Amino acid sequence: MPNFGDFQVSVYLEGMLNGTTPELTTNLAQLQEHAKAVLPAEAMGYIVPSAGDGATARANREAFDRWRIVPRMMRGAVERDLSCTVLGTSMPAPVLLAPIGVQSLAHSDGELATARAAAGMGIPYIHSTAASHSFEEVAEASGGGPRWYQLYVPNDREVCQSFLERAAASGFDTLVVTLDTTILGWRPADLDRGFLPFLANVGVANYLTDPAFLAKLDKPVEEDPGAATFLWAGMFPNPGLRWSDLSFLREHWAGPIVVKGVVATEDAIAAVDHGVDGIVVSNHGGRQVDGSIGALDALPAVVGAVGDRTTTLFDSGIRNGTDVIKALALGADAILLGRPFLYGLALAGQQGVEHVLRCLLAELDLALTLAGHPDPATLGPEVLQRS
Ligand SMILES: Cc1cc2nc3c(=O)[nH]c(=O)nc-3n(C[C@H](O)[C@H](O)[C@H](O)COP(=O)(O)O)c2cc1C
Repeated sequence: MPNFGDFQVSVYLEGMLNGTTPELTTNLAQLQEHAKAVLPAEAMGYIVPSAGDGATARANREAFDRWRIVPRMMRGAVERDLSCTVLGTSMPAPVLLAPIGVQSLAHSDGELATARAAAGMGIPYIHSTAASHSFEEVAEASGGGPRWYQLYVPNDREVCQSFLERAAASGFDTLVVTLDTTILGWRPADLDRGFLPFLANVGVANYLTDPAFLAKLDKPVEEDPGAATFLWAGMFPNPGLRWSDLSFLREHWAGPIVVKGVVATEDAIAAVDHGVDGIVVSNHGGRQVDGSIGALDALPAVVGAVGDRTTTLFDSGIRNGTDVIKALALGADAILLGRPFLYGLALAGQQGVEHVLRCLLAELDLALTLAGHPDPATLGPEVLQRS
């Protein structure tokens, strides 16, 4: 088995022997600026900025910057195996792609390109309820690739049940229930442009292909698209969602259930007490509550409270391979990569997502080895020092 870090050698060889350099930068933290330059203004405004004045997104990055890795010597390994199994899904490294909606804003192939890239590398793809392609289309693109489904719980239980049934029938194994977006946060970049893709029936493919949703319309969507928009707008908001509603999901979902968007230890405990199989410590990349706690700052306390009772995943602010090490060291079992893969998608479609994953995994592998922790499962807080 080659090591992920071997990608580094292939890049150098391409450059030295063939004079070719990578199409996209290998510094994943720079992708945001590159993507900004190619995305149309509305898409850029939806994807890049966060809620309010961006304080939460800044806090996410600052939280990473406060931790430093303390490399250990004479402990590397020639052959490395980063693979793991999370809630029954095996993966080549503790990395999944975060659920991201409306990927057609980044590239016309949208989720199909992402699902193909993920499947080609064995990395789990998580399908958003707010996707531009339906469960069935994505399942076809994903083929034998591992895939999970992210649910925004609609306030209409018939549609909710139908989504769960279609996701299961399409081979999505684990359900990720997002708790932090029962309504949209205050997003000035979109507000200032008066832009919300869902109101143009973009990012609602799961709804527009859903028999329970369509049954509630008097006419086919093509004849009255406005009625479909109105129906969606009526069933998306769900601020009345409660822990007790998880029992409805459990009744209609046979696989593992994970809740996403937890940063308070009280909520982590409540989630586990209500029988979830995992949690994602996340603040939605700062897109919901401006001025909230950095996600990595929340991780140690959550792991301390429930880490021995549940699977803990993490996202919000991961930009490169060494960020993955920090999150794993602070107790995450695996991480979800967000915006960087979307920037890769915007810049080069499926190949862009593949490039981002290759770079992330290569840097993770090399840094783990150089820091003397070739097996990610052995990472703990002692690997880090707070600066
Ligand atoms: C453009 C965009 C759309 C997103 N759509 C969803 C979504 O549909 N469902 C969801 O649970 N999270 C969604 N997220 C949040 C991601 O799953 C993840 O929590 C976030 O991207 C992590 O922050 P980071 O990208 O800054 O690392 C979205 C994020 C972005 C940037």
